[in-house]
Amino acid sequence: MRRPFVIGNWKMNGTIESSRELAVAADKEARSLSEIDIGICPPFVRIAQAAQVVAGGPLQLGAQDCAKQSDGAFTGEVSAKMLEAHGCRLTLVGHSERRTLFGETDADVAQKAQRALEAGLMPMICVGESLDERNAGRTEERVGSQLDAVLDRLQAEQTADLSRITVAYEPVWAIGTGLSATPEQAGEVHAFLRRRIESRDPKAALRIRILYGGSVGQDNARALFSESEIDGALVGGASLDAEKFAKICQAASRSIHRSESDRSG
Ligand code: 13P
Repeated sequence: MRRPFVIGNWKMNGTIESSRELAVAADKEARSLSEIDIGICPPFVRIAQAAQVVAGGPLQLGAQDCAKQSDGAFTGEVSAKMLEAHGCRLTLVGHSERRTLFGETDADVAQKAQRALEAGLMPMICVGESLDERNAGRTEERVGSQLDAVLDRLQAEQTADLSRITVAYEPVWAIGTGLSATPEQAGEVHAFLRRRIESRDPKAALRIRILYGGSVGQDNARALFSESEIDGALVGGASLDAEKFAKICQAASRSIHRSESDRSG
């Protein structure tokens, strides 16, 4: 079984004080739930602050994005190397808000994933279809091409060991809408993505965690985590409430104990 991973994407939210409180609460949760991985992705300007809170502990610090270039005259950008130097262990790449609101292409996302790996960060590659694409039966085509763009580049550049990536399936229609995919809907897409990776690298396919994101909350977390293809959650809105986020983490932790007791019969 892959180690569950719950990660909060704070997006562009929070004050200096509320961010500190959220980081402290997530740090406490990570120290008490040692059988799962927990992470937070604060806005860039809060990363140094969060790094002080997580220092030396198990809470994984991540960024919400990184530049596609290594360094240089790119006003407003933040490089993967800078993030690593500030204590980040991972970065999201290709979040649907970056793709739809800021015009990021599959090629941009692939470049960012490569920069992250070069800097020693784990890229969390976000993929997901729109409602129109789902209704037209084009979910697999969409998420498959988003994933392929990244894997093609990483394999061509021989940057990595594909097992150093993480994938997040976030259907666009489920993000911030309160309308989560069902465990079955998510499970089907996760299984498809895993087969897609398997066709290139069977060993990596076994190890790569595929998280689900899109209206994950304390009420649906347990059901989602009971689906064997779902290795964790990328949480938006609910990660801004320390108590709700803790409950989601606890649901992930309990899912391990449930599957252990299922195995022992
Ligand atoms: P919500 O949990 O608010 O739907 O956001 C999901 C998301 O975009 C996480 O990256």
